Amino acid sequence: MILYPRNTMKTPNNPLKMQVEKNVIDIVTIAGTRPEIIKLADLVQLLDGQGNHALIYTGQHYSDNMKSIFFDELKIKPDYDLRCDTSDVATLKENMLKFLQEMRPPYILVYGDTNSSLAGALAAKEVGSTLVHIEAGLRCFDLNVPEERARIKIDSISDYLFPPTELARTFLSYEEIEKNVTVTGNLVVDVCRRLAKVADEYGRHYDLPDNYLLLTMHRQENVDERDRLEMLRKHLSGIDHKIVFPIHPRTKNNLARYGITLPPNVIVIEPAGYLEFLYLLKNCRLVMTDSGGVQEEAIVLKRPCVTLRHVSERWETLLLKANVLFPLYRRDPLSNVIEMMLEAKIERNPYGENVAEKMLHLIMQITQ
Ligand code: UD1
Ligand code: UDP
Repeated sequence: MILYPRNTMKTPNNPLKMQVEKNVIDIVTIAGTRPEIIKLADLVQLLDGQGNHALIYTGQHYSDNMKSIFFDELKIKPDYDLRCDTSDVATLKENMLKFLQEMRPPYILVYGDTNSSLAGALAAKEVGSTLVHIEAGLRCFDLNVPEERARIKIDSISDYLFPPTELARTFLSYEEIEKNVTVTGNLVVDVCRRLAKVADEYGRHYDLPDNYLLLTMHRQENVDERDRLEMLRKHLSGIDHKIVFPIHPRTKNNLARYGITLPPNVIVIEPAGYLEFLYLLKNCRLVMTDSGGVQEEAIVLKRPCVTLRHVSERWETLLLKANVLFPLYRRDPLSNVIEMMLEAKIERNPYGENVAEKMLHLIMQITQ
């Protein structure tokens, strides 16, 4: 098997074969997509500082603007990049298994609900590692959402579970998961606050319109069908503000496939790096999104949020009135909801702080 160790990550045409070190690594962290790189960054740095830790990147997200820019900005590097270039769970799992069967790490950490996390969790159990699930217990209670099915599965096979909030712990207890559950807060808080402080210089080259709104959109339920994209186009054309839209590749591909052009008040840009995105988020009047991470960052950075879905797993943001749901199939104007949310007063962050340090402490207790 060809693996790409840390120092060769940027030389895809010159891969080195390497021997996986056996019985040397105690803890493996698995990541495969943009949000996992971001949210795991601080914890990975702390775990690296302890030694005996390796970060495995599956390569589910592979484009430079979905992957490398985040490793660079967040100052972490994968120890092994499996370069799977796919979101197919079977392929991801097979590639991870080959690797983990050699390495046999006693502990494996996975984050959230992507196919990389699911495949990593399944592979971890197959090789007999102790599985820790970070961001456990999130539920939107709609099994049509692929991430919901992934979360439920991962939670059901995890040995230790770190729900970010008490509500997530409660959702786990509905499924009779009560052993080895610790509420930790959400890792996004520290990383987004820290980098938001230095993000200002990343906006200098922008000539941003006044009072702009920010938009992100990538969820299967919103962007895979022509009808939904048409609904998006229609809602956006009724909005009186300029809208900055860093576009996810899935959305870009599908708009092109269906020949849909967004209205002129929408400024479409390439997917933004994290610093650039935080600049856009800090300075927007309001964000419209279907992203989990962006709903969390919006409340942390005190920006009003409209979630373009019929459900959310981020119940706390809805309960605190920092976020409101607006599924694209609604027929009333999105602009009315936006005007209402522009007045939102956002006072509380439900996700804790110093989460990475607390989590490190917890992981050290578990692994000692
Ligand atoms: C995945 C996760 C989703 C997460 C999102 C974060 C699953 C099932 N979905 O969705 O939970 O919220 O990541 O962004 O794991 N593509 C590129 N370059 C890339 C990555 C993707 O061009 O680097 C394009 C490809 O055409 C690909 C499509 O985007 O087929 C979708 O990518 P995929 O990883 O399957 O799902 P995401 O929509 O990114
Ligand atoms: N993000 C980014 N650039 C963008 C869009 C999003 O850096 O153009 C960041 C955002 O700040 C958040 C994360 O990516 O931290 C969210 O990822 P995404 O929306 O792809 O996935 P989700 O959170 O829905 O799983």
